[in-house]
Amino acid sequence: MANRGGFSNKLGFILAAAGSAVGLGNIWKFPFEVGNGGGAAFVFMYLGFCFLLCFPVMVTEIAIGRKTQLNPVGAFKALGYNNWKFIGLLGIASGVIILSFYNVIAGWAFGYFFEMATGNFEIGKNFGPFVANVTKVGLYAILFMVLTAFIVSRGVSGGIEKAARLLMPALIIMILCLVGYSLTLPNAMTGLKFYLFPNFSAINGATLGGALRQAFFSLSLGMGALITYGSYVSKKDNIVSSAAFITLTDVGIAFIAGLMMFPLVSYSTQGNMSDMEGGAGLIFATLPGVFETLGPLLGIIVGAFFFLLLSFAALTSTVSLLEVPVAYVVDEFKIRRSNAVILVAIVVFLFGLPSLLGNGAVDFFTNNFALPFGSDSSATGYSSDFLSFVAKIADTLLLFGGLAISIFAGHVWKKHNLDEEISFGFENYKTSLVRKLINLGVTIICPLVLFLLLVVVLLSNFAGIDVFTMF
Ligand code: PHE
Repeated sequence: MANRGGFSNKLGFILAAAGSAVGLGNIWKFPFEVGNGGGAAFVFMYLGFCFLLCFPVMVTEIAIGRKTQLNPVGAFKALGYNNWKFIGLLGIASGVIILSFYNVIAGWAFGYFFEMATGNFEIGKNFGPFVANVTKVGLYAILFMVLTAFIVSRGVSGGIEKAARLLMPALIIMILCLVGYSLTLPNAMTGLKFYLFPNFSAINGATLGGALRQAFFSLSLGMGALITYGSYVSKKDNIVSSAAFITLTDVGIAFIAGLMMFPLVSYSTQGNMSDMEGGAGLIFATLPGVFETLGPLLGIIVGAFFFLLLSFAALTSTVSLLEVPVAYVVDEFKIRRSNAVILVAIVVFLFGLPSLLGNGAVDFFTNNFALPFGSDSSATGYSSDFLSFVAKIADTLLLFGGLAISIFAGHVWKKHNLDEEISFGFENYKTSLVRKLINLGVTIICPLVLFLLLVVVLLSNFAGIDVFTMF
């Protein structure tokens, strides 16, 4: 087999995987989902899902990848379950779909960095015209894709890992500085209260489904991103502790992003949290105005700093999203990495055109893509643009992928094979308590709970039936 490359050590893997996990999902999406889902009530559900359902799936994905040292499709074939390679194919399709719209939003963040750096505080009020300006956002999206492609083409240790080693620590330092700063603003406490005191009456089928989707999306699960990254992990490394680090980093950064965002929001609404801008606008429309009040110099510094942070977070995620189809093409069609990267990047970019055009530029892609029943967990309410539509489809595919992976591991591949792979790098695994938890997860809890919740999500988003309000 050709040399596929690999992470240089455990830390390299953890940083790259945490880089995949931490992204727009944590800093851009998590706060507005929280805002819509009842503040802390949503946070509780989200945390529960991350540790209870997502953690065993994460360990399983990494184990399948490391065992086979292949991409998600090749992995199921190599294990001898040709019929199950549909999980891998579905994962690669989900990756392509997610990257196609994710890159558009990453381009907005990147564009905002330049706007802030040049002191354009008006951009918040002009968010609508900005995203409808295809030449501008198209250019930023191309730039972002090129950056992503460049990193992925440099290979696993020389590209993906190196970028994560640089960007992740920078991101953590930047976000901590911003939290410290935002907590000093007037009305910060009102924002925190909203964030940290639960309103359980806001829980319904849509918010529950939203929290679950957010957990899978945020941890990059259900599409084989971690099968792919796992395929570059050494047999000496402990998968369980790596997965624990990745989960804690991701959840921790989402939580900290909330600590940063809600005081900023509360400051900008003078403590009236119900005036909060919904959906995409929470960051892009609200924050430039907040930064403006800091005065020209400080405003430019903090504003540019913030959107650079958001771009860094997005970049380590787009890298992992691109790596999944690239690994597939390299492994299965024996195409050189650099050529595979160019090919996949172009295909994904073209796939993303409707998402790029559907924000005001082209009426057709802006207005015709509502879900059949607009019971929508995002704060935008009834969104009808192509990007929101396809994002929701992709989220749901991840849940399906997670369900299929847990059924596969727990009932097809079987526990003892999973146990054996995890034992490499974790000598006492077979007698440990965590083994019981992981096995219980993949055999019973994940298949059962994910199935039930998937039904709830499908009913509420695609059929307009909210199971919770039926009783
Ligand atoms: N986890 C990333 C985020 O939160 C998005 C992502 C999803 C990346 C799936 C890879 C795979 O932004």
